[in-house]
Amino acid sequence: MRKYEKRISLVNEYMNRMNLLREISDYYAGRTILVTGGAGAIGSNLIIALSSLVGNKGKILVLDNLSSIKAKDPWNVTPLPNIMFVLGDVRSDVDLKRVFKEEPSIVFHLAAFFANQNSVDYPETSAEVDVIGQIKLLEYSSISKIDKFIYASSGCAIYGSYPELPLKEEFVSMHLTTPYQINKMTGEMYCNFYHHHYGLPVANCRFFNSYGPGEVPGQYRNVIPNFIYWAMNGIGLPITGIGEETRDFTYVLDLVQGLIKAGYYQNAIGENFNLASGKEVSIRDLAKMVNNATGNKAEIIFRERRKWDTKPRLLASIDKAQRLIGYEPLIGFEEGFQTNIEWFRDYLEKIESLADFPPGMNSAVRGVDIRAEK
Ligand SMILES: NC(=O)c1ccc[n+]([C@@H]2O[C@H](COP(=O)([O-])OP(=O)(O)OC[C@H]3O[C@@H](n4cnc5c(N)ncnc54)[C@H](O)[C@@H]3O)[C@@H](O)[C@H]2O)c1
Repeated sequence: MRKYEKRISLVNEYMNRMNLLREISDYYAGRTILVTGGAGAIGSNLIIALSSLVGNKGKILVLDNLSSIKAKDPWNVTPLPNIMFVLGDVRSDVDLKRVFKEEPSIVFHLAAFFANQNSVDYPETSAEVDVIGQIKLLEYSSISKIDKFIYASSGCAIYGSYPELPLKEEFVSMHLTTPYQINKMTGEMYCNFYHHHYGLPVANCRFFNSYGPGEVPGQYRNVIPNFIYWAMNGIGLPITGIGEETRDFTYVLDLVQGLIKAGYYQNAIGENFNLASGKEVSIRDLAKMVNNATGNKAEIIFRERRKWDTKPRLLASIDKAQRLIGYEPLIGFEEGFQTNIEWFRDYLEKIESLADFPPGMNSAVRGVDIRAEK
């Protein structure tokens, strides 16, 4: 349990900073809540926060098939007394019946086939999980008459190629470049269908580039954990592009804040809104920060832009989330980044054992084989 203490205290400190309204804590107290994908990068933080909100009369059900990491090891699920981990699949009726038997009143749907390159390599599985799995979950949620269904949508999916910045919710593009983007957008459309047709109270939260404790690097993972991991191994950081590209990196607990508020505020129902930092960081600056923080002397390597990566800049407007649910990101990039580095140092051995970079199969940055360049 000691190794989880720091993780729990990071979340608790954040919750204190958040200064949640009394009515929000009261609303969550004693509830049974289902979090799909609760063993993942974002879900593993969300469940700690929810565990303290529901208290000892409530329960957090985590449904996760542990497909995002190399081993079937639920290490990212903090073993708190009111958290129940179910190794299962959102595509399986048996697994869904098992968790819905516990009568959750709120569902946070975070399970997904992550992410762009993975879906390019395995388009059918991407659709099975992110579309069929989601329809099943919406169906069970609707039949069970749950109070709220909160969907983890994706800013990179919805806004497609060449949008105007900052990205506002009313902009919708059909120029999607990966099956992941198509499926995440389809996911929002199914949420809207269940809302309009069956009255299921849904909210679509559009996340932007999460980072922070909980994300294990891997061939299909995000740039921040992969850069940190490679830099800690003395490898030159590969930039796919010119480095001027930007992303709206959002600290994972700011996303957790948005989810908790989306689960409470009635204003969120039937809506879609960005959850982001509202700030840009360039990939070149990120690479420099990572090299400085880790003492990595290896040179940055520039590689060809990935064909599907058609967004030179990503910057979200967070006005709508501020207006609807009082969302307010609390952690600046410098602070969040330092916390992420510390988490890597604390868990390096475990992270190394779970990081998934099959030799010769490094699709996230094709041609970089961590073993070959060591
Ligand atoms: N991380 C980001 O930057 C980001 C950005 C936009 C949207 N999102 C969305 O947020 C959600 C969470 O993202 P994350 O970064 O925590 O991803 P993650 O891969 O770390 O977590 C997803 C979890 O879902 C589980 N999962 C996958 N397929 C499953 C299945 N068939 N049944 C049950 N569980 C399954 C995985 O094992 C994993 O633990 C996803 O829906 C993702 O699309 C993430």
